[in-house]
Amino acid sequence: MAEVDLKDPLAAFRLDGEVAVVTGGANGLGRAIGTALAGAGAIVVLADHETAAARAAAEDSALGRGRAEARAMDVTDEATIAHVFEAVVAAHGRLDILINNAGIALRRPAVELELDDWHRVMDVNLTGVFLCARHAARHMIAAGGGRIVNMASIMSFSGGGLYPNISYQSSKGAVLNLTRALAVEWAPHNIRVNAVAPTWTRTRLISGFLEQPDVVAALEAMMPLGRLADPEDIVGAVLFLVSRAAAMVTGHTLPVDGGFLAQ
Ligand SMILES: NC(=O)c1ccc[n+]([C@@H]2O[C@H](COP(=O)([O-])OP(=O)(O)OC[C@H]3O[C@@H](n4cnc5c(N)ncnc54)[C@H](O)[C@@H]3O)[C@@H](O)[C@H]2O)c1
Repeated sequence: MAEVDLKDPLAAFRLDGEVAVVTGGANGLGRAIGTALAGAGAIVVLADHETAAARAAAEDSALGRGRAEARAMDVTDEATIAHVFEAVVAAHGRLDILINNAGIALRRPAVELELDDWHRVMDVNLTGVFLCARHAARHMIAAGGGRIVNMASIMSFSGGGLYPNISYQSSKGAVLNLTRALAVEWAPHNIRVNAVAPTWTRTRLISGFLEQPDVVAALEAMMPLGRLADPEDIVGAVLFLVSRAAAMVTGHTLPVDGGFLAQ
């Protein structure tokens, strides 16, 4: 059933009283997304293996007012993941939203990439997304529904960056189809699963690029809109996908790419 009131359409974007877990929420995009979800009214759990940074983020005034908390979570450790979701539901009585945001990149030419590094990227970027999704879904199925947003990338659709990044591109490509498959499997449970695919965004993940003006200029030249994204550019897509305005959107990956993929 449609959930937008045409006379008050923005009400469909409010998340008052809802509980959201953001993996990798201590820094960068996850922190920005957590702040925006709190701003829309949600109680936000920043789940990160950088626990001190997650705690500092949760105490930040924009997230504060009792609406944010930090939880230690390594998305490659299934036992911890299960414990965190159980603890969140025990503390707040519900789990409405999961943002599968934790991610890493190890840029190497394919012939030089150590197998351990390949596995590390897959473990965090792909298996971590799957494990968090299925533990969240167990609670969402019991409760009658929920929303999951996975962090994909323009590299989910493209094999070409400035530097070789085979493990990252492979993992993010897989996130695209994981998103579709879980969306179909869990649609009968009223769980919507979508993804957001950002372009290069000014966070620590690409700090190696950001320190080099010539690389930044080369990246900007690849962007039809002529600039890189800031974390604030990405949150609107996430807010839409978790909102009641997106009640008929599932299995979709929404690029926020400044036109990169349109070329
Ligand atoms: N910055 C970009 O250009 C860009 C572009 C497209 C997609 N993304 C994706 O956005 C997501 C967020 O990245 P970011 O740019 O904010 O990077 P970031 O490095 O600023 O933040 C990543 C966060 O993930 C956490 N993390 C890493 N491994 C973890 C683990 N095993 N368990 C728990 N937490 C872990 C880190 O502690 C950190 O807080 C990633 O999935 C990334 O691939 C980023």
